[in-house]
Amino acid sequence: MALQTLFLGVIVARPILSSILATLAFLLIRSLYRIYVHPLSHIPGPTLPKLTSLWLYYHAYVGDEASTIHKLHKQHGPNVRVSPNEVDISDADAIPAIYVSKGGFPKAACYANFDMDGHKTIFSTTDAEYRSPRAKAVVPLFSTKALRENEAAIWGCVDSMVERLKEEAETKRAVNVLNLTRSLAVDTVSTHLFRENYDGVSERGPVLSVSAFVDAFVAVGRFFYLPNTAFVWLEWAVGKWAADRKTDDSRTLVDKFVGNLVTNTSTKSATYPGRLLAAGLSYSEVKAQCKDLIFAGTDSTGMNLAIIMRNMVLFPKKYQKLKEEVNSNIALGADAEDAQALPYLNAVVKEGLRISMATPTRLPHVVPTGGWTFKDTYFPAGSIVGCSAYELHFNPIIFPEPQSFKPERWLNATEAMSKYWFAFGAGSRACIARNLATLELQFATERLARSNVLEGVRAVQSEVEIFEWFNSKVKGERIELIWK
Ligand code: HEM
Repeated sequence: MALQTLFLGVIVARPILSSILATLAFLLIRSLYRIYVHPLSHIPGPTLPKLTSLWLYYHAYVGDEASTIHKLHKQHGPNVRVSPNEVDISDADAIPAIYVSKGGFPKAACYANFDMDGHKTIFSTTDAEYRSPRAKAVVPLFSTKALRENEAAIWGCVDSMVERLKEEAETKRAVNVLNLTRSLAVDTVSTHLFRENYDGVSERGPVLSVSAFVDAFVAVGRFFYLPNTAFVWLEWAVGKWAADRKTDDSRTLVDKFVGNLVTNTSTKSATYPGRLLAAGLSYSEVKAQCKDLIFAGTDSTGMNLAIIMRNMVLFPKKYQKLKEEVNSNIALGADAEDAQALPYLNAVVKEGLRISMATPTRLPHVVPTGGWTFKDTYFPAGSIVGCSAYELHFNPIIFPEPQSFKPERWLNATEAMSKYWFAFGAGSRACIARNLATLELQFATERLARSNVLEGVRAVQSEVEIFEWFNSKVKGERIELIWK
């Protein structure tokens, strides 16, 4: 009887055993292939990411991707294999080929994880032909001419933010300036591109009403590298079992704001939605493209301005220098220069953009047919390559003491510094709104100097830590200042 049971057990176990052995054999062969035979096997890096993408998924999820890869570059040189098919490059000479020449290499498929409400956006699409008519329709709104024509309205947003800051300062409580700068960012985007001020700066709640919507989208960065099918299932599961009220309310609010906006926009209107409707896009897609701007334009500029404010407080002598420049300019009366032309002010903004790490990680693009040889290293077609702001901006040879806020370094900028400055990306897929974002930062910095509002202020946190997701997130969502 015992013999019979053993015999039966062997018969049942055999297929299971065979499957386990087959799986192990497959994994072993695949591992050996990926390490020794794969077309990227000549690229250095630690063993684990050569074997599996799970290493990259993990670091993206916990939010230490950029700093972990930074350490690997120190060990392995300018090219580091960060997943079986992906390489992080720290050499800025790679930028022209990957991002600029002939439109650069196409964006990697993982950008689809940033699609909005089932629509590809100007940001998320990997298809140049899909993007082209949409970008063409809206690009004029970001030109220097369009911004100049609407300067008064943008100054208006900045002035309201500074007034609100003064009001908050009176309370002598710690002020979360990140919330205020995010409010300014959404007001600037809506005022300039939608011609309807969202007026976040006037909100009296502890947190800007669009924040939870923006945060939910920023958190997509944790799963940026997941294959889209896995991402879609995950998103569905989160929506079903882990939805939270705050995010749902914020989403509904943004949806309503954008819905009203698009419904009341005519194809003749020269606004962002008007131009997209005139280009023949559906209402539903135009709504998605507008929501995408609220996501892309809120945290990025908000984070930068809050970091500039914090550094002006941490370094009173630099704030003094900025104020002297701005006040001397004001004294010129009718001959005063535009804020954009003030050298130290611009250096403050540029250094803020360098150090704030709004988009710290690699911008992954796909090597096209024919492959690519960069400085004697061959990258086969289909492999994913990219540079990151973290790697380029924190290069100690180009930017000595890279983690320190030193606007002075930009007063005599070298060619290499300009080459390594990657805050808005580069080439045809660089930030479409870089002129608008820069102008907002320049105007706000001017007013912070002119108003003296940061005089005698103390920074609350000793350090500001971030989750290094595609769009970074400040841990605790607070950058606080306190007026003594
Ligand atoms: C300081 C503020 C900002 C920073 C640092 C920033 C950074 C970037 C970067 C690095 C990219 C390239 C992403 C990639 O290639 O994957 C990008 C693209 C983009 N940004 Fe910004 N951005 C800022 C402000 C804004 C604002 C205010 C808006 C909207 C009004 C905006 C809208 C976009 C869009 C639509 C794209 C996609 C462009 C394309 O693929 O054609 N950004 N941004």
